[in-house]
Amino acid sequence: MSVPSVSFADSVWFAADYSLREHNTFGFDVRAHLLCRVESEAQFAAALADPRAEGLRTLVLGGGSNVVLTRDFDGLVLLVALRGREVVREDSDAWYVRAAAGETWHDFVAWTLAQGMPGLENLALIPGTVGAAPIQNIGAYGLEMGERFASLRAIELATGTVHEFDAAACRFGYRDSFFKREGRERFAITSVTFRLPKAWQPHADYADIARELAAKGKADNPDAQAIFDAVVAVRRAKLPDPRELGNAGSFFKNPVIDAAQFETLRAREPEVVSYPQPDGRVKLAAGWLIDRCGWKGRALGHAAVHERQALVLVNRGGATGAEVLALAQRIQQDVIQRFGVALEPEPLVL
Ligand code: EPU
Repeated sequence: MSVPSVSFADSVWFAADYSLREHNTFGFDVRAHLLCRVESEAQFAAALADPRAEGLRTLVLGGGSNVVLTRDFDGLVLLVALRGREVVREDSDAWYVRAAAGETWHDFVAWTLAQGMPGLENLALIPGTVGAAPIQNIGAYGLEMGERFASLRAIELATGTVHEFDAAACRFGYRDSFFKREGRERFAITSVTFRLPKAWQPHADYADIARELAAKGKADNPDAQAIFDAVVAVRRAKLPDPRELGNAGSFFKNPVIDAAQFETLRAREPEVVSYPQPDGRVKLAAGWLIDRCGWKGRALGHAAVHERQALVLVNRGGATGAEVLALAQRIQQDVIQRFGVALEPEPLVL
């Protein structure tokens, strides 16, 4: 392995020709032309203003848990390493807690519970950083991050100026936000503030969680810690740990189709797993569609479909991003052929 050359200027470090293997949860060994680890908003601005960054494309990386790196990146990678978390204020209705973008999401969730501030427990063990959470509006077991969001700070890459975004400006949707669309490649999130209502209600209806709580004798009036523990147990049982088996969580979004298409599909496939949406459309479980096509546990080269959750693609060791994409395309073809439904990748493909 070559040793990256490192230099020091204007309080920011640049590394050249740097392997991103440790910085993406698929473990793909692609290289960054330049990499800079930023620990503050000032360092972000300094890195962007540095002459060596001039004219380069930029890629902001947190934990790398929602990207598929298919090739070397010929620009500047900004590795988000801003740390810190605090209770910023409290009123009669809620606590407001802020975390810097580089904090590990799961550790932050555990910390809020330790402060006696419930509300994020359903989102335990989601890989990645706090700064990445709003980009795709992470969600699990009946809760989306957007429901606990107050505001965020983000630095505009072109100008180095910091902007504040409220929930409306973030335009959260299902695994979607402004930062995945118009804001993509334009902003880097530096901190996020959450609003945790004091009138806490458990979200424990999701079948897997209800089952796990019942098994532990906690089905009646579970507290936030019991839900946290149940979520951790369910995720550990179903989802591969990226440190052991490279993956980026769900590889596809659950597709949403219109009511007429759903009725036609259900007539043919009565067991199809579906969730009616408030707007009359119907969300389908992509994992079920993929499983039904026989892909669960199957491999193509070094890339494979996880044995316990067909929605997760894994690197069995030595896979490239291109191999994972080839597998994803085969799955998309089969699902469209059998069900007439298009699957859209959830992670960012680069
Ligand atoms: N299913 C199968 N076979 C499979 C996988 C799933 O038949 O291989 C069926 C299940 O039996 C169940 C349904 O599909 O009836 C849904 O499965 P599951 O409860 O595991 O959830 P999901 O829809 O596959 C979504 C999120 C996950 C999140 C879980 C729990 C998306 C794209 N994925 O998965 O999020 O943890 O719900 O809320 O919305 C992620 O985004 O990376 C992620 C892991």
